[in-house]
Amino acid sequence: MSSLSVISGKTSEEIARKLSKKIKANLVKSSIKIFPDGESKITLSGKISKKKSIIVQSIYPPVDSNLIQALSLISKTKEISSEVITVIPYMGYARQDREFLPGEIVTMKVLAKLFKSVGASKIITVDVHSLIGFNYFTIKSKNVTAIPDLVKYFKKLSLKNPLVVSPDQGGKERAREFAREFDLDFIALHKKRDRKTGKVKIITKNVDEVNGRDLILVDDMISTGGSIINATQFLKKQKCKRVFVACTHALLMNDAERKIRKAGVTKIVSTNTIPGKTSLVDISNTIAKAIK
Ligand code: R5P
Repeated sequence: MSSLSVISGKTSEEIARKLSKKIKANLVKSSIKIFPDGESKITLSGKISKKKSIIVQSIYPPVDSNLIQALSLISKTKEISSEVITVIPYMGYARQDREFLPGEIVTMKVLAKLFKSVGASKIITVDVHSLIGFNYFTIKSKNVTAIPDLVKYFKKLSLKNPLVVSPDQGGKERAREFAREFDLDFIALHKKRDRKTGKVKIITKNVDEVNGRDLILVDDMISTGGSIINATQFLKKQKCKRVFVACTHALLMNDAERKIRKAGVTKIVSTNTIPGKTSLVDISNTIAKAIK
């Protein structure tokens, strides 16, 4: 038996299975029963290593249940393993990394306390919304990027004179990295979000360089689809050709996918940090490298 174990949370079974094979670890599966009142009962099957364990559990909706499942997995594993590496491929609650409006609670600060108190030795995430939140962590933390994996996928598509576009200035560095990896140019639009309603609008005026070109809109995540829809509608008015979307985490809440396609997006490509119809890119290899 391996001296390493991978504990598969229910939200990240594919990544956990692939990761355990890649790093030759013993796979410990979890099964979940949700009680009528919403509580999770978690049962593990398999042998947890006394030396080192790697837990994999994304925190996508239902975020509160999936967070408590992650904390429970860490807590139980720590009773057996001396080292507990926790991989949170999609880190929910990471957007509230500062007090935007007075009185708002910084949930990343809360997560930092929780992960430490249940016994995590190290946290690994993929394209966390912003690195500011990691400043609250007193245990080791590492963020890895899925951009090279996404670029590899896009290189296989036949695109016409492609240009990389960030829907906002906050994603400029991400778009720059995507463009550099692909050897393309990039631009970043200006987006304004109403902090109270959450509604977004594009305030960029004209971008002549998109005319007649295929565009790759790069973002870390899609939630309601508002950012992508607004950017696409704007770019279509600027007479671009096709619009593709590359994102790490596709939450696609409610009917976001339908609305995005209606806005004119040809294809949405995301990773398996959140499994779904658009998760065409596997990031288990990138996670395996981060663990070594
Ligand atoms: C915002 O700063 C993020 O990078 C995403 O653009 C945003 O969270 C996506 O959310 P939505 O799909 O609701 O616009």
